[in-house]
Amino acid sequence: MSLPEPLACRFPDDFIWAVATSSFQIEGAAREDGKGESIWDRFCTVPGVIADASNGDVACDHYHRLNSDLDLIASLGVNAYRFSVSWPRVQPAGKGAWNEKGLDFYERLVDGLLARGIKPHLTLNHWDLPQALQDEGGWTERATMDRFVDYALGMHQRLGDRLTAITTHNEPWVIAVLGHEQGIFAPGIKNRKTALQVAHHLLVSHGMAVQALRAEGCTADLGIVLNLSPMVPATDSAEDLQAAQKADTAGRRWYTDPLFLGHYPQSVLDELGADAPVVHPGDMAYIATPIDYLGVNYYTRQVISASGPVDTKATGLPLTEMGWEIYAQGLTDLLLLLHKDYKLPAVLITENGGAFKDPLTQGQVHDADRTDYLRTHIAAMADAMDQGVPMAGYMVWSLMDNFEWSSGYAKRFGIVHVDYATQRRTLKDSALWYRDFLAACRNAHLAAVAA
Ligand code: FCB
Repeated sequence: MSLPEPLACRFPDDFIWAVATSSFQIEGAAREDGKGESIWDRFCTVPGVIADASNGDVACDHYHRLNSDLDLIASLGVNAYRFSVSWPRVQPAGKGAWNEKGLDFYERLVDGLLARGIKPHLTLNHWDLPQALQDEGGWTERATMDRFVDYALGMHQRLGDRLTAITTHNEPWVIAVLGHEQGIFAPGIKNRKTALQVAHHLLVSHGMAVQALRAEGCTADLGIVLNLSPMVPATDSAEDLQAAQKADTAGRRWYTDPLFLGHYPQSVLDELGADAPVVHPGDMAYIATPIDYLGVNYYTRQVISASGPVDTKATGLPLTEMGWEIYAQGLTDLLLLLHKDYKLPAVLITENGGAFKDPLTQGQVHDADRTDYLRTHIAAMADAMDQGVPMAGYMVWSLMDNFEWSSGYAKRFGIVHVDYATQRRTLKDSALWYRDFLAACRNAHLAAVAA
């Protein structure tokens, strides 16, 4: 009888293993050293929109704790780190003058990573658009696409020679739908037509930035990050099947078809009618610019019935603190679906993780549920890789507990616990497990080389 191969042995030695964060969620220093206001700074001042009425003013105080946080990251044994740049910190008005102190912070971050042997994966837009650009219409305006390209080129000029990867946008769906249709995220707009136009501008500006960066001789890998879930029919009935397929087309393929096939799904365009985005000549070619990698953020599946999405509490699967079902098989299913539909570039899981109740007792956090979540999802990714999906890396969301957008600080996603009163960081059991797992991956390769 052959024993199943241990998880650590299933990955190639150049596989990217990382932890991920984003600027607004961890940096703090919201009004320091010349930083401009972002749309999330502004949104947090609206009464009632953030569950615990908190904001990003201090967050994890990462801006002031850069070196010790870099040591923390290095202590995990990761070979890459995914972070984002706060656009208003480096270019306060979103155009024109650059802020030297802001640029210097990211330069110290990137150099600090390199000095520790960690590859920098930089995201340009993890939602904190300069408020000054929002005042001129933000992502509803085509002019913002040009501003974004200038910003991308500015960052490349300063840091490009030291970056491994540059992601243009994180989760355009969230910016468009939660920010501009449901209005529960910044900038708090509630208009479906606007949301669809915003999503289009995000995709076009992604392609414009990729082309502009390549024209500048950028050597970093270039890609985009999407939040994706498989849409699972609630029953085998023809109605539920059709509803799930429709949800998949409108939710996932609305983004992946243009990126990989150069057009929006016609069935959705037909249904949108006057709400469909205005598309200028050349836009679709920009969107379909070949990319070096697709970043996939995976948290859960969606169960769909003919009468709409099924309440996760009704399915009987365990839930995270966000109320999201824990369903690792969904990651395999999603990756295989993408692999079937498109000729994929390298695929990175750019976010995966869970919020759990994490009591800190006697300096320890026994988060067995999170460790289990990470282990089963890494295995699910390996299953997809074994079936031909070009997997290149995995990034845990998140390095440490942080500002979870409209949930404030109440939901903890970190593998490192943050005591917000003291800013003390404590490795949870899941961080210790990840560290040991990554060491096992390295050892598996050393053993293979020696044999
Ligand atoms: C994703 C975001 C990330 C984090 C996780 C939980 O949608 O990209 O910033 O909030 O969800």
